[in-house]
Amino acid sequence: MSASRCVTGALVLAAGKGTRMKSDLPKVLLPVLDQPVLYYVLDTLRRCMASSKGRVQSLAVVVGHRGETVQEYLSSNWPEALPLWQHEQLGTGHAVQIAKEWWTGLDHLLVLPGDVPLLTEGSLSALVQDHVASGADCSFISFHAADPSGYGRVVRERKEIAIIEEKDATKAQKALTEVNSAIYIFKTSSLLPHIYRLDNENAQGEFYLPDIIAMMVRAGGKVTASLAPEEGEFAGINTPLQLADAATALRRRILRRHLSAGVRMQDPDSVWIGPEVVISDNVLLEPSVQLWGRTKVDRGAHVGSFSILRNVVLEEDACVVSHAVLSDSVFRKGSQVGPFIVVRDGAVFEEDSRGGKFVEVKKSRVGKGSKVPHLAYIGDAEIGAETNIGAGTITCNYDGKNKNPTTIGDRCFIGSDTMLVAPVNVGDDGFTAAGSVITQDVPEGALAVGRVKQRNIEGWAKRAGKK
Ligand code: UD1
Ligand code: CA
Repeated sequence: MSASRCVTGALVLAAGKGTRMKSDLPKVLLPVLDQPVLYYVLDTLRRCMASSKGRVQSLAVVVGHRGETVQEYLSSNWPEALPLWQHEQLGTGHAVQIAKEWWTGLDHLLVLPGDVPLLTEGSLSALVQDHVASGADCSFISFHAADPSGYGRVVRERKEIAIIEEKDATKAQKALTEVNSAIYIFKTSSLLPHIYRLDNENAQGEFYLPDIIAMMVRAGGKVTASLAPEEGEFAGINTPLQLADAATALRRRILRRHLSAGVRMQDPDSVWIGPEVVISDNVLLEPSVQLWGRTKVDRGAHVGSFSILRNVVLEEDACVVSHAVLSDSVFRKGSQVGPFIVVRDGAVFEEDSRGGKFVEVKKSRVGKGSKVPHLAYIGDAEIGAETNIGAGTITCNYDGKNKNPTTIGDRCFIGSDTMLVAPVNVGDDGFTAAGSVITQDVPEGALAVGRVKQRNIEGWAKRAGKK
């Protein structure tokens, strides 16, 4: 039977405490780069579901320890994943038992832990495809671990195969380096007669899913342990050290992917890029750049050193000079910002606009060709095209209760150190005199002067004894 004609579901086990991590967050929600551990397994599964090779049609996740938090994460990020509750975490075998109602309708059940973030779509699809083609009752991935401690050992004796957990292993078994990846695929009709026969008479008092392997073999079933050529993808994340190692490996993998696709980096070792970031070719990232979230960088864009971008779109030829903290904002073609700028909360820099030195722009639009070159705060503002905002300009948008809007038209000239007390509007071609406090609307084409007239007191220095 071809893989595509069978109904295969994937069950991700994510109910465990992650005791060895010593963290308050459930293990599967601990961050690796800017996404939780669980994201990576689900992303791999999503790719499997999309690929024509190892078709996986449905997806469920066993939740338990701090399960509400995991369920919340799933419902907002992975609506295709069905949460199944394991109220008491009695072991990996028990986790598969509680999911029985869900998997009995499937032909094949892929079971994998939530803590294998390095697993790739290629390896998983190959497992599914080979399993279906071979007609095995169960296939699982094993590998040789440089340090096998903590893993279940694969014990091969004559024609038999078994997995023995470390805590139950003899000294000789502990010396074995072939270990269980905990990534299995079962023919559901072969799993059903065994799943409730598991017992918990072992060192941890848990129902171990790996015990199924020996049970199936003894019952005459066909079990294939497919030994992976490399350890890299299958490392489980149980301790803070393993979490850090996985982050290092994932980070390197992401950097290599972008470098191979034509992104230039002068010092890749100092660049951090999250897994959801999309970068076109002919882009230059200077040293010490961080790109996170759903950031998208188009052709010809340039990101200068010490810039942190999260959920930002840089359109073609946009340039971030350096030292910029940009989030949830869009920079259109040819716009340029920085150095030393903060842009946030849905701001838009239109084509060929500029944001300069020591400037903060929040929830505002800077129109086409307009400039905010130095020392300014622009919040809740709409700025038209070809307008210049003088140094020291501030939109006084907050009255202590509400955030009020400022609108500035096309071709305006806002003099240096203007305070725009919002809500306020400046019409097209409007001017404000330097140092003005603008509390009333400025009509189209008018100059607003909102400052005390200068007065010179002759001879003052002498009289005051200064000379
Ligand atoms: C497991 C395997 C071990 C294998 C290793 C590979 C068992 C008994 N052992 O060990 O053979 O070498 O993975 O990394 O399966 N979970 C639940 N419910 C539970 C218990 C665990 O959902 O009641 C989940 C955990 O959240 C985790 C996964 O199952 O994502 C594996 O559990 P974990 O405790 O990490 O198992 P290991 O000791 O690593
Ligand atoms: Ca584990």
